[in-house]
Formats: sequence, structure tokens, C-alpha cells
Amino acid sequence: MSAAVVPLKDNFRELIVEVARKLEPYFPDITARWREQLTREFALDARTLATLEQLTIASACIHFKHADFEGFFEMLNYFGTRLSKLQLDTRILRRALEIYENLMHPYVSSLFGDRETEALAALEMVSSFSFVIISGAYFDTRTLESSSLLKILDVELGDQPLESMLQQVLEILTSSFGANVGAILLHEPEADLLRVEAAVGLGEGLRGEFSMQMGKGFAGHVFSTGEPDMIIDANKDPRVIHPRLRETAKALWGMPLRHDGRPIGVMLIGFDKPYEWLPTEKELLRAIADRSALAIHRSRITHTLREREARIAELSAHLLRVQEEERNRISRELHDETGQGLMVIRLYLGMLRNSLPSKAAKAKVDETLDVVDRTVEGIRRIIGKLSPLVLQELGLFAALRKEALHLEQKHGVSCRVAISDEVGRLSAETETAIYRIVQEALHNIAKHAQAQNAAITMDRVDGKVKLAVEDDGVGIFPKTNYRGNSFGLAGIKERVGMLGGEVRVASPKGQGTRIDVTVPATEPDKPHPLLEELQSLHPSFRMGGGEGTTHAENKMSTH
Ligand SMILES: Nc1ncnc2c1ncn2[C@@H]1O[C@H](COP(=O)(O)OP(=O)(O)OP(=O)(O)O)[C@@H](O)[C@H]1O
Ligand SMILES: [Mg+2]
Repeated sequence: MSAAVVPLKDNFRELIVEVARKLEPYFPDITARWREQLTREFALDARTLATLEQLTIASACIHFKHADFEGFFEMLNYFGTRLSKLQLDTRILRRALEIYENLMHPYVSSLFGDRETEALAALEMVSSFSFVIISGAYFDTRTLESSSLLKILDVELGDQPLESMLQQVLEILTSSFGANVGAILLHEPEADLLRVEAAVGLGEGLRGEFSMQMGKGFAGHVFSTGEPDMIIDANKDPRVIHPRLRETAKALWGMPLRHDGRPIGVMLIGFDKPYEWLPTEKELLRAIADRSALAIHRSRITHTLREREARIAELSAHLLRVQEEERNRISRELHDETGQGLMVIRLYLGMLRNSLPSKAAKAKVDETLDVVDRTVEGIRRIIGKLSPLVLQELGLFAALRKEALHLEQKHGVSCRVAISDEVGRLSAETETAIYRIVQEALHNIAKHAQAQNAAITMDRVDGKVKLAVEDDGVGIFPKTNYRGNSFGLAGIKERVGMLGGEVRVASPKGQGTRIDVTVPATEPDKPHPLLEELQSLHPSFRMGGGEGTTHAENKMSTH
């Protein structure tokens, strides 16, 4: 509270000046008795008593004698702030002022005669003023404390990297304490060092570079004792080893950062004057240190979790790639080894058939040829499912139509496919991902949805491919997708994440399920070298060919 808001009438000012001048010779006596009575009534420590004494009329006298009321207000404010930091109860303050007033009473009576009432009224006015201004100082101190604590909480609850969080905390801390230097050091268990993570007023580039061996220096001392400590003359104290700290700070306050009862670092602030901390200052610093230690712990956990998450994402992306490669390899082997082997068997069977005289034997060979053809057809289907080369061959549109047809024929769910011409060809990676996503979504519809109808729609808008797969089934029951053994939707999310896209699964009650996927529209790759090779070897190579083809020769024969 500023002095200007407590006006003092001029005639009162004159009277106060007069009272002060007349009482001046008696103040030492009055003060001594006041001190006695106050210590009888309250167990006050010497520091609090000395501060309270600064607030009596006797101390104000020096200002009053010169009619320096501004100086008086300033003094009240300064010592009021100090008293509040000493945590003196305001009721004791009120009582201390009252005792002083009572002790002055007989002197005023004898010195002022018939103007006694007037003089007493002036003194009472000073006393009330003092109380109001000191209470204001108490309030200001508390407000400052809580606002700096709130600011620090704000920073600590934010989502920024540990280093910048600590730097901001330190800046708020030094400015609210009026400190000119500060540092936050964290313990590095591997190297057993304290490393500066944030610094204020200690020159550029100090952060991270200056580390301290355990047990050395003031910070090392605070860390190893685990107790707050204070240095009043940093220049003379051998524990202050950093030259810049010796130069810039007179007083140093150190507070350990502790988590789970163990020290994890140290918070230091320093002043250019020999300030000693007062109880509330020490408590505030401790509260800030405790909060910060929690925030550091939280930030480290978040960091570890994010790293782990990133590693898991990398790993699953790798697994998906490996899976795709493995599928390619198996389908290639099925094609090259098994397929070719069957072709040779078929060729020899044909030759054998022609050389057989008996009809019955020929019929047996025909049956065997049928079995070979069906096996070749089966293998062709497996290759089609296994290898996304079907995409290279047929294009995404045809490959998806095939999947839709399969849903209709095998599961009785009618499935509409609407793919805009705008979509065009995309990179093999994107087409494979979309194909696999639709495969899984349709698989889920067949398995869980009990739907009548489904639809696959795809379009290209502003350089993005938008895919939606929906059904009119029962919808996803809450929590069912958190079962430990369900990986389909997670796989969809993983694939979309790998492409830098977004996925949304919506299942409003009674309205079926809809999966929306948006991925960047990629440029198509050059033709797949394997495909080129296969096509050059087998010009009529058609792995996923049109429905209803029965004869394997059409698909796999090299002749
Ligand atoms: N279209 C859908 N309609 C109704 N429920 C669905 C649909 N899609 C998914 N679900 C529900 O969401 C759950 C999770 O699906 P997800 O594909 O992740 O796993 P899953 O199909 O059970 O197993 P997995 O795909 O690993 O073989 C399913 O168990 C099912 O309960
Ligand atoms: Mg599934």
C-alpha cells in the first residue's frame, strides 16, 4: 500500500511534530519499559523485537522532527514487509503499538495539560495509520509470494523441454526475490556431477558447461548435506569457488531440490547485498524448490515415455515393413519355386497322358491334372493375398474392388466402392498401406459388424488422399477395442502414422462404424523392378486376374 492513499491532515501533522519533539527525551525510558512488557507478554526473538521497535513512535520521531511524513511511511512499509516475512502475528503487532501508546499516556498528560486529549488523539491516529500501512505491507508480501508461486506453477505445468522450463523458473525466482544471480544445478548420477541447467546473471554460455564435482563448492555442499544453507559474504567464503559468483554475489542462498527424500539438485540465488533470509523467504524458496523438483521428475518421466513411444513407433514401422517384405518373399518363392514346379508337373503329366493307351489311365491323369490346376489356382489366390504386387499389377481401384467383392460373396455384406478418378496412382508404400487398411477394415466388418451394407470411398483433395470405410452394423462397443489381443485398429493407426496422416474411428450409437483416413498424396514410384523382371520372364503374368478364370496356364505358364 502506498503512503499516498493514507492522507494525514495538516493540523494533525503539526501536532504530531510537536508531540514528537516534546516526548523525545523520554523515549529511551518508554522504549525500555515497552520492551520489558512486550517480552513478558510474548516470547519474541531478538530479530522480531528489533524490527518492531523500528515501528514505534520513538523511531518515527526522527522523521516527525523534520516533518518528513513520506520517510515515515516508507519506513513503515519497509519494516512492515520485514515483519511479515518474520511471520509476526498481526494481533501481536496491534498489541505492541497499544502498549507503546499506553506507556506514553502519563507523559502526554503532564506535558500537554489541557491539550492532552488533542495530543492523545494525534498519537492514536499515528498508531492506527501505522497499523493500516503495516497490514498493507503484509498483504503485498503475501500477494507477491503467491503470485510468484503461481507463475512458477504455470511454467511447470506447461509442456516445454526441461531446460527452458528451468530457465523460466529461475528468472521468475530471481526477479521475485530481487536477486541478481541465480543457478539451478542438477545431479548427473552417471558422472556424479552437478551440472548447471539454468543460470541468471552469470554470463553467457555458463549453462551446462560448468559442472561441479560432488561435495565441492557451495552447491555441492548444499547437495551433499541435503539442507538449505546461506552465505552472507560470498567473497570470503572458501565454499564459493566459481569466480563469477564470487564477484557478483554478496549473499548466497542455497536450497536442495529433493524428490522422494533424495536430493536431485540445487537451487541457488545470490544478492549484491548481505541479505539474510527471513522465515517466509526461506519457506517460499523451499516451496518453489519442492514444486520444481516434482516438475523436473515429471518432465524426465514424460521425456522417457516420449522416447519409448518413439522407439515403439519406429519398431512397429520396421515390423510392418519387414512383414511386407516377408510377404513379398514368400509370394515370390511360391511363384518361382512351387508355381514353376507345378507347371513342370503339369507339362510332364500332359506328355504322359498323350502316351497312355488306356482311356481309364488317361481319365486318372486328367483327374490329377485337375488337382494340379486347382492347386495352382489356390496358390495364385494366396499370392494375390500375400503380395501387394497385386496393386502394381491391377492398380488400387481394382484391388479394392476385389476385396469388396470378396466381402459380398463370402460374407453377404453388399459393398459399394466409389473411388474418384482424381486419386490416380500413388507411391507403392501409400497404395500398400491403403490396401492393407481397407483389408483390415473389411475384415473387421465381416468379423464384428453384423452389417448389411458397407462402402469404400476415396478421393484426392488438396494434395491429400481421403479414404473412408463405413458400415451400417452394430458399431464398436465402448472399451472392446482396448482388449489386449486386438491389433487391427492399432495397425491401421500405425500405418497411417508412418505416412504422416491422420485416422479417425467413429462409431456413434446405432449408426455403424466409420473409419476416416487422410494421408498425403504421394507420387507414384517407377515400376517395381521385381514386377518388370517377372513380366519379362512371364509376359502373361497376372497374379490377381479377373474372377472366374479357371485354368492355371493362363496365369502362370511361360509358354
Ligand atoms: N466395423 C466394426 N463394427 C463393429 N465392431 C468393430 C468394428 N471394427 C472393430 N470393431 C470392434 O473393435 C475391436 C477392435 O478391432 P481390431 O481390429 O483392433 O481387433 P480385432 O478385430 O478384434 O482383432 P485383430 O484385428 O487383431 O484380429 C474389435 O474387437 C471389435 O469389437
Ligand atoms: Mg480386426
